Amino acid sequence: MDVFEAIEARRSVRRFLPEPVPREALERCIEAAGKAPSPHNEQMWRFVAVTDRALIRRMAEAVKEEVDRLAGDDREGAARVKWFGAFFGHAPAVVLVFMRPIGSVVASLLPGTGEDPELKAEMETTPARLGMGAAVENFLLAAVALGYGTCWLSAPVVAAGRLAELAGVGEPWRFVSLIAMGKPRRETAGPPKKPLEEIAEFREPPSSFSATTP
Ligand SMILES: Cc1cc2nc3c(=O)[nH]c(=O)nc-3n(C[C@H](O)[C@H](O)[C@H](O)COP(=O)(O)O)c2cc1C
Repeated sequence: MDVFEAIEARRSVRRFLPEPVPREALERCIEAAGKAPSPHNEQMWRFVAVTDRALIRRMAEAVKEEVDRLAGDDREGAARVKWFGAFFGHAPAVVLVFMRPIGSVVASLLPGTGEDPELKAEMETTPARLGMGAAVENFLLAAVALGYGTCWLSAPVVAAGRLAELAGVGEPWRFVSLIAMGKPRRETAGPPKKPLEEIAEFREPPSSFSATTP
């Protein structure tokens, strides 16, 4: 399967067969994640793969408890968030994704950045978070190539502290995402994606352009 086939085949999978995910598959996906680009090659990621079903269930319970606490009287809101934030409790494997904060080289080289706290904060957090996304996407595509389904979840961030504690991960690591993984229970088509013309614009040289035109 080449990378374009993996991109086409990837879709979020939320129902899995009980079949376990072997350690080698998790290692290959995490290795692929770790090859992603990151700001100044900081590789500010850490992945904790969990295949202990009891621990996975405890993690999902922790998310549900936090959702209940935060939802207050909104039972409908709580039920919805619990569905898309805690279904991973039934996955045979989950991978918790942690990030450590990194400084911004741009901000350190341009002292004027410090005079704009909003820009400074943006420069310090956005590149690192984008790099985390690149790593997670690598993981998802590698999983597809190995015949697994995945879903990338950020809703469990509501229980970040408790998940880190259950995973045995402390400072300076921050929980940023969770990946549910397993063999898909059934094939699904996946949601439609916008066509190229809706998402892309091109600024090309005028057709009369020639290298000799001044
Ligand atoms: C950063 C990020 C966070 C997401 N968080 C959740 C989540 O918490 N729960 C969930 O069920 N899906 C989550 N998703 C999956 C999206 O819902 C899914 O990618 C989207 O509906 C498109 O479907 P597809 O992945 O099949 O193309 C997340 C996706 C991304 C990229």
